[in-house]
Amino acid sequence: MAGIPLSRRGFCAGLAAGAILGRPAFAAAPTPLTARPATVQLAPEGYAATKVWSYDGTVPGTTLRAKQGGRLTRRLVNELPVPTSVHWHGIRIDNAMDGVAGLTQEPVPAGGSFDYDFVLPDAGTYWYHAHTNSMEQVARGLSGPLIIEEADAYDVDRDEVLMLDDWLLDPETGAFRGGDHPVTLSHAGRTGNLVGTNGQFAFSLPAKRHERLRLRLINAANARIFVLRLAGLEGWTVAVDGMPLPEPEPLSDELVLAPAQRIDLVVDVTAEEGETAGLLRRDTDGTWQPQAMVPVTGQASIARRGVPAALPPNPKMEVSGLKDARRLTMALEGGAMSGLESARYKGRELGFRGLMQEGQFWALAGQAGMADVPFARLSRGETVRLGLTNQTMFPHAMHLHGMHFRTVGADGTLGPMRDTVLTFPNETVEIAFVADNPGKWLLHCHMLGHAASGMTTWIEVA
Ligand code: C2O
Ligand code: CU
Repeated sequence: MAGIPLSRRGFCAGLAAGAILGRPAFAAAPTPLTARPATVQLAPEGYAATKVWSYDGTVPGTTLRAKQGGRLTRRLVNELPVPTSVHWHGIRIDNAMDGVAGLTQEPVPAGGSFDYDFVLPDAGTYWYHAHTNSMEQVARGLSGPLIIEEADAYDVDRDEVLMLDDWLLDPETGAFRGGDHPVTLSHAGRTGNLVGTNGQFAFSLPAKRHERLRLRLINAANARIFVLRLAGLEGWTVAVDGMPLPEPEPLSDELVLAPAQRIDLVVDVTAEEGETAGLLRRDTDGTWQPQAMVPVTGQASIARRGVPAALPPNPKMEVSGLKDARRLTMALEGGAMSGLESARYKGRELGFRGLMQEGQFWALAGQAGMADVPFARLSRGETVRLGLTNQTMFPHAMHLHGMHFRTVGADGTLGPMRDTVLTFPNETVEIAFVADNPGKWLLHCHMLGHAASGMTTWIEVA
């Protein structure tokens, strides 16, 4: 054998010498985030467990926390039997790290890995999820919370993440059922037969009377719009889609949380000791069901606290230049009962039948699915006003990657800054944003079945 025989002893001695000299033997690898199969109990006790695709073996995946202004560095290790990638939803991210297979990166093959490493400009509540065949991969469990902490701790007693989701399971076997039937795709999308919080059917968050909680609600469901209200809790909305509101807004009405949206609440427990407070969800039959139960045990203080302070604003929350903005419009078309006549698909104009044969039921600005050219090419720094006209019979949660936007009201008033907006049938929602993040950015419906069957396009910022 040629060369220097490297005995085990010699190798160890070499390492020790390196250590003595203060030289690390190897560069530290980033912390892994492992996408892998796992078995978890999603259904209530007594029902079968479910084989999921997970991040690090749990559903939701590991809660990632990092400081605003810092970096997030994770090595995606793909132990799934299929290619995958991770999208960091709502982070105003470097385009190369956006995780969109086929647009910003190659999918990571089974057995492969990919190092994600990016700056975190904004504090707030975000989430991460698969962005390769998302309709299937997210439904199978590939999502998790991503919390970016403010420089100074916000004044609450506890900070809790509530990731809301629904699963479509076979009650006998606990196995996932496909949600990709044409009828599902062309209607409201795949809603589950089991709704839960943080991977549990009956999620409970015990608290004390007068305790103040920050609740970070994340809708990780494929298509379900959550309509929520509080019971025995009172409080304020302090942020939406990660972005702080200028002032906390007292909660009175129902909260609507579309797929991919987040709401940060500050709530005080006002129920008496021994009562059960909580977050309720309106079911399709109109009844209110517990989404998260808050059993009240003990008392944190004699009286409630005062009104909370606003969260510190994130950088670049201004959307200026509205008057001279570039104006664009996009029709949302298709789906059941709306009579989409034709749309472009892979460079050809196809009639409704032809589209259906390709599994395409929806179109954005006359285009079904991804095209070679972007919906719009924008120059860096320009302000854009985009009118989204929903000409379908269903609501759609439209999400722009890479940049947050504000809605523009009929009277010109700007809504809160967000990354996902719900549009209803026969409604036009105008959004405005500053195209300040260069790269190729997806714009799609976050009802993932809709995205997979036509409602996905992209823009490019030069
Ligand atoms: Cu939540 Cu295209 O992503
Ligand atoms: Cu949709």
